Amino acid sequence: MIHARIIGTGSYLPGNPVTNDDLVARGVETSDEWVTTRTGIRTRHFVAKGVTSSMIGLEAAKRALDAAGCKATDLDLIIVGTTTPDYVFPSTAALVQDALGIKSGCAAFDVQAVCSGFLYGLAIAEKFIKSGSHKRALIIGSEVLSRFVDWKDRGTCVLFGDGAGAVILEASDKPGIRATALHTDGSHQSILSVASNVTDGVVTGDPFVRMDGQAVYKFAVKVLGDVAQEVVDLAGVPRESIDWLVPHQANLRIIQSTARRLGLPMEKVIVTLDRHGNTSAASIPLALDGAVRSGQIRPGQRVMIEAVGGGMTWGAALIDF
Ligand code: UT7
Repeated sequence: MIHARIIGTGSYLPGNPVTNDDLVARGVETSDEWVTTRTGIRTRHFVAKGVTSSMIGLEAAKRALDAAGCKATDLDLIIVGTTTPDYVFPSTAALVQDALGIKSGCAAFDVQAVCSGFLYGLAIAEKFIKSGSHKRALIIGSEVLSRFVDWKDRGTCVLFGDGAGAVILEASDKPGIRATALHTDGSHQSILSVASNVTDGVVTGDPFVRMDGQAVYKFAVKVLGDVAQEVVDLAGVPRESIDWLVPHQANLRIIQSTARRLGLPMEKVIVTLDRHGNTSAASIPLALDGAVRSGQIRPGQRVMIEAVGGGMTWGAALIDF
């Protein structure tokens, strides 16, 4: 049987950290006390003018390739989870493929599942690899959400940041990704959205992130707890065998609640949102890479990742490192 294993991780945060006090200085009606208490976020990073998701995704990809000891030309699949692509088309994945100098014509495409985009990409790549059709995939989560934030809406603008993370997934005879579960319920589309488009050369609708924070909060706590148990059941392993939870980094209180439902102490939960805020599809691979590079996640350990985002989308994966 063919399995799919993560053999390298990488991440990239653009520019310097921007603190909560920096946002106050820029005119946002908030305070460091409010943001840290309600969310756990202390700093975030923003791209400079002209910097795009493909550019920061490329940096994360190069670091993941280095960590995996692979060349870009070894890849036969590229998937980018992003809700902030460079263009309507071509895909961000096509731009990353070109920037990596891959001329083989390997498959490359984007996945739009908002904050669950990296998780969706990983689950898709796992299926390509397990089918035997592909051997080595690059999966990126990359976002420049700062471009879609309304700086007059303090309920959202303090939450989001820019960044990118990536993993290399390879065919192996040893188990790696043990189980995945993906879900969407489009009937909740209005609680978190950027409900706009470009039509006849004009932006139509509302081009900013809009969120009913409390509705998203309640939804997230419920589905993340449920899907964590679902993926444990699918893998047929005991909950106690999980060494680390690497959750979507949106709100510390949501993360604490999921850990409680899983019976995991916070010492086994990777939290990086204090440093980069909510980076949507980039948040899980950013946190994962940080934990691998700091020596927290070690070979042989079992990791659960899980996400929830606009759509609403959500899911989880159980991974042996
Ligand atoms: O990546 C997708 C997943 N997204 C999420 O997981 C986000 C989920 N939701 C949340 O994390 C929380 O709902 C928020 C952090 C967004 C908001 O926290 P909350 O405890 O639900 O606050 P709230 O929206 O109920 O607002 C409470 C108060 C309001 O003032 P009043 O009406 O009580 O006087 C807001 O106007 O806090 C006020 N407020 C702020 N005050 C200072 C809202 N935003 C801010 C702010 N600074 N940035």
